[in-house]
Amino acid sequence: MHHMETIDWKNLGFGYRKADYNIRCWYRDGKWGELEVSDSEQVTMHMAATALHYGQEAFEGLKAFRGKDNKVRVFRMDENAKRLRNSANGIMMAPVPEDLFMDAIRKAVKMNEKYVPPFESGAALYIRPLLVGTGPQIGVKPAEEYLFMVFVMPVGPYFKEGFKPTDLVIYREYDRAAPHGTGIYKVGGNYAASLQAGTRAHKEGYSAVLYLDAKEKKYLDECGPANFFGIKNNTYVTPKSTSILPSITNMSLRQLAADMGMTVEERKIPVEELAEFEEVGACGTAAVISPIKRVYDADIDKEYTYGKEPGVVSQKLYDKLRAIQYGTEPDPYGWTE
Ligand code: COI
Repeated sequence: MHHMETIDWKNLGFGYRKADYNIRCWYRDGKWGELEVSDSEQVTMHMAATALHYGQEAFEGLKAFRGKDNKVRVFRMDENAKRLRNSANGIMMAPVPEDLFMDAIRKAVKMNEKYVPPFESGAALYIRPLLVGTGPQIGVKPAEEYLFMVFVMPVGPYFKEGFKPTDLVIYREYDRAAPHGTGIYKVGGNYAASLQAGTRAHKEGYSAVLYLDAKEKKYLDECGPANFFGIKNNTYVTPKSTSILPSITNMSLRQLAADMGMTVEERKIPVEELAEFEEVGACGTAAVISPIKRVYDADIDKEYTYGKEPGVVSQKLYDKLRAIQYGTEPDPYGWTE
């Protein structure tokens, strides 16, 4: 029997919390099986699973939102399905067919519907799909067996400040991903590679590390667990790089900015250009938009400062995105289902 603990919807952070059910699907003998429903938080796999030894693992992050109309909307899951396929191909895993991916998401949300936070809370149901190589290998080669799983939990903002501006730091001695490495895939190894720098940043009072490109250390790259954007002269600028994760939130913000009449640029951003932006922010599914009030370049003891309150453009983009996600405004893009 399930009992519903009381959840303080308005004060949720971004942390693991058990829901009732998760969805699983195995790839064996060259084909995907049926979706299975589980109420266990445990996974049993072979100790020689490639995910455990050689990091053959990828994940996704997306959200479902409860509208004022009580309808639950999932945001752009077709894009997450495509991205997971790309990650799977990138590290030679069996790709999850997009229909199977979306059916698993729908099922996970439906079966845990009571965990989708109420509209008024501003919180959301975070959906975490995982694809792991479970087949045994000891030579460095792809597994022959895979497990695809989807679990969910209600979450608040990723950065505890929510939509209040936070600080970032630049350290040149850490790289998150190599220019032609796995940075563009959503694989666990990239996040493990960010732990040292990220933990140091948190200790020193920053919400995330603003990485520079690994090769030249000249251009802005990934922003911790999120993408970076800057605003100047009615232009939305975001880094073009071969090592950042293509954020679906960033892609959506580019579209919204363009449709608000802004210019959109995806290009290399020299670190010194931080001095020219009127507003800067981090964006991602978990982070939504996290405005930045200060970037500290630790190696050269230089700081770039921005407004202590969210800028007007960041606010406008945030409001528009949230309105579509919560269904308080029509969705002309077909981003929600
Ligand atoms: C997301 O934004 O959904 C992510 O997957 C980032 C993760 C580190 C929380």
